Amino acid sequence: MSEITTTPPRSAWPRRVRQSHRWISVAFVLSVIATSIALAQAEPIMWMSYVPLFPLLLLFLTGTYLFALPYFAKWHRRGKDAA
Ligand code: HEM
Repeated sequence: MSEITTTPPRSAWPRRVRQSHRWISVAFVLSVIATSIALAQAEPIMWMSYVPLFPLLLLFLTGTYLFALPYFAKWHRRGKDAA
């Protein structure tokens, strides 16, 4: 199976972070569904409303890294050209 990479295969980090982002997004969706059920009860479980914030924070961090990857690669190439 072929795989699309955004940077040269020098580092395994981009692939690991992309896979983490993908699976954390699944956990985030499940936590939102669980929270919706918890809040729809006759006696809502209020603390459950904070649960999705944790995977969302991880998604923000890994997503920001993925967003910046192509720019890192560009800077890296530019640095090499200058040398
Ligand atoms: C919270 C802020 C988030 C940021 C900054 C962010 C950013 C990104 C970026 C930059 C990519 C890579 C796009 C590309 O190169 O084509 C990506 C991929 C993706 N994002 Fe997010 N994301 C965020 C939240 C989410 C959420 C809430 C979900 C779903 C619940 C999600 C699901 C995904 C999935 C499934 C991918 C594709 C991963 C793969 O390549 O397999 N992200 N995201």
